[in-house]
Amino acid sequence: MDRTDNRPNGSSRLFEPVSVAKTFRLPNRLIMAPMTTTAGHDNGEISDEEIAYLSQRAAGGIGTIMSPACYVHKSGHAFPGQIGVHSDDMIPGLTRCTEAIRKNGGVSILQIHHGGNAAKSEFTGHAPWAPSAVQNRTGTSEMPTAMTVNQIQDVISAFATAARRAQRSGFDGIELHGANTYLFQQFFSSFTNKRDDEYGTQTWENRCRFAADVVIAVRAEVGPDYPILYRVSPEEPEPDGYTTEDVVELLRRIVPLGIDVVHVSTWEYGTGLYPEPSPGQHTTLRIKRAVDVPVVGVGQIRTPEQALRVLDDGVNLVALGRVLLFEKDWGVKAQSDRASEIRTQITTVEEVDQLDVPPKMKPYIRRFFPDRI
Ligand SMILES: Cc1cc2nc3c(=O)[nH]c(=O)nc-3n(C[C@H](O)[C@H](O)[C@H](O)COP(=O)(O)O)c2cc1C
Repeated sequence: MDRTDNRPNGSSRLFEPVSVAKTFRLPNRLIMAPMTTTAGHDNGEISDEEIAYLSQRAAGGIGTIMSPACYVHKSGHAFPGQIGVHSDDMIPGLTRCTEAIRKNGGVSILQIHHGGNAAKSEFTGHAPWAPSAVQNRTGTSEMPTAMTVNQIQDVISAFATAARRAQRSGFDGIELHGANTYLFQQFFSSFTNKRDDEYGTQTWENRCRFAADVVIAVRAEVGPDYPILYRVSPEEPEPDGYTTEDVVELLRRIVPLGIDVVHVSTWEYGTGLYPEPSPGQHTTLRIKRAVDVPVVGVGQIRTPEQALRVLDDGVNLVALGRVLLFEKDWGVKAQSDRASEIRTQITTVEEVDQLDVPPKMKPYIRRFFPDRI
């Protein structure tokens, strides 16, 4: 982590345009990671504050802006203020969002999501729907009910309809939120999936069926050229979690069904839950080597130098999360060799009040990150 790029503008590689899928041209290699802000309206509509915040990051030089997780079906609503794409009524707001991002030079991706056991009855009116009646690992979710096959089919259709709504709203692509313990992961993991039917985990085909069915349904709905990204968590905690090798098998099966980019969700890029099998074999790289589509790396990347190291690894795209809460002009500063001006830390509560984030996000930031990322 001590390599310095001594070229005249060492960051320039971050700003090369990249072509992905058949028709998708990303302005540069930087992506704003999906981050839920709780700033949506109670009915799931996106707020003006959220649109301003997202589009400002495009103006600040981040080529691709990902939305926060957006629920596809009312049964998947997991967070207060979560935005939805579960109804046509959401399209006008989402369209204003894509227009604002485009006007500022960015392209936009809608991350589509179902919370599974993380959904909350206060939003849905019923116990969470999940593959099986298993709470999350920490026991903090409500006790879900096991989904019927009809409910599974409804949710699969909802992903397809949601993707079409994203397309109609002007998003340049969608990301299936297969990571961070939500519904896709709950089907894939034998910790949360105890089913003995065709959506159970007894065979690879069954274990990957939910993800595969969604990819097939979404691809059929949006057509052959519309970009579809898949976000995945590369491993789960022992003793009963899945491994990176399991994820490689999942991707081997679903990428050919129509995935254009794989986004590996790690809290710290290059650091896994377990020691690397050998140097240079961290989870993102093992996945990168196993798939033949571009891969996004993420996790505690704060400076241009750190972002360049991700490219040095051969990973195609770099997603920035929390640092963009603190620094809306990250891209502009990196591109104009003003990296030293990039704010990578919050040291005082007062600083939080100066951030260009939706006001509802400020208590959240103060609570979790009072003095550092
Ligand atoms: C406040 C907050 C909200 C998040 N919301 C989402 C989300 O909606 N969807 C998602 O896939 N990941 C979400 N994440 C994870 C981020 O996308 C990212 O992977 C993580 O923050 C690590 O990157 P960073 O260190 O650059 O922040 C969230 C993270 C934070 C801090």
